[in-house]
Amino acid sequence: MALVWKIAGSFLLPITIVYLLIRFCGRKKLCLRNKVVLITGASSGLGEACAHAFYRAGCKLILAGRRGKELQRVKDDLLTKTDVKNDKVHPPELAVLDITDASSLQEKMASIVALYGVLDILINNAGISYRGEIEHTNMDVYRKLMEVNFFGQIALTKEILPVMVQQKKGMIVFISSMQGKVSIPYRSAYSSAKHALQAFSDCLRAETAERGVDVCVVSPGYISTNLSRNAVRGDGSLHGVIDKTTASGMTPQEAAQAVLQTVTYRHQDVVLSSITHKLAIYIRTLLPSLFFWIMLKRAKKYRDENK
Ligand SMILES: NC(=O)c1ccc[n+]([C@@H]2O[C@H](COP(=O)([O-])OP(=O)(O)OC[C@H]3O[C@@H](n4cnc5c(N)ncnc54)[C@H](OP(=O)(O)O)[C@@H]3O)[C@@H](O)[C@H]2O)c1
Ligand SMILES: *[C@@H]1O[C@H](CO)[C@@H](O)[C@H](O)[C@H]1NC(C)=O
Repeated sequence: MALVWKIAGSFLLPITIVYLLIRFCGRKKLCLRNKVVLITGASSGLGEACAHAFYRAGCKLILAGRRGKELQRVKDDLLTKTDVKNDKVHPPELAVLDITDASSLQEKMASIVALYGVLDILINNAGISYRGEIEHTNMDVYRKLMEVNFFGQIALTKEILPVMVQQKKGMIVFISSMQGKVSIPYRSAYSSAKHALQAFSDCLRAETAERGVDVCVVSPGYISTNLSRNAVRGDGSLHGVIDKTTASGMTPQEAAQAVLQTVTYRHQDVVLSSITHKLAIYIRTLLPSLFFWIMLKRAKKYRDENK
């Protein structure tokens, strides 16, 4: 027994120290106070919770979304319900914008950058989900999911990137999903768009790392938001219900806290989920045929339940 401990000790301690060094000291910690942060999809769910978390950390927020009224509600909540010292927080700015509206995006982004003259952090959080069978999904639905979850994020990133490169600093955060890592049946449009987003982010990270711009991808499992209610079906109609899986997920506040940590420690790729869900990523890579079998069972179960 003593020998086992001795061997374990001689390996584990150095490994642990190196791991901790890389994780916490390898990359300089970011101080969030007074940072200018643009959050898309800040009118509900995870984006709204991120607004609260980054506001309390002392950031200068710009909250974006299509629904101006909901953005105003979030702003009012921040101003009235947040219990922090006044000298630390800054009143948030609002930006009503549709990330898929190519004709107005350039102008709107220019006025967003002009608000403070700098932009430190872009949190690409806006997104919609999907439920449906490939055979019965209109091409328009595939295009819509790509527009919101992929092209919209790229368009925004391309507007902000020159600003950050010129500043020689900045961070671009992409809120992807577990489904950006592994695809599950009857979610083809969503999984495909999030996989594309992951691929884009990995290219961007390499291209900008040495010019001061950090890129980080956060891939959450289920979060209890209205995402599934706002999801579109294959025929283009609204899914309209909050699925059990979504309802039983982590709270938006927990997820937002993890996003805040990710940004603070400048982590590059974070999966926010249970260990079993994380395991799926390794199974897909190391034992693909086992993964395909599990997904086949899952598809069958879904068909049985939705007969
Ligand atoms: N909930 C989950 O289980 C889960 C899991 C993994 C990843 N995620 C990801 O987390 C992100 C946030 O989703 P959520 O769960 O918080 O859902 P949500 O409550 O439905 O929020 C989605 C947000 O996206 C915005 N949005 C949608 N289309 C837009 C457009 N065309 N232009 C601008 N903004 C748009 C919406 O604002 P407006 O309607 O005001 O425009 C809304 O604030 C998404 O990227 C989602 O894929 C969620
Ligand atoms: C979901 O939508 C309802 C009604 O619009 C709203 O009251 C609720 O706060 C939303 N939930 C989240 C987590 O955004």
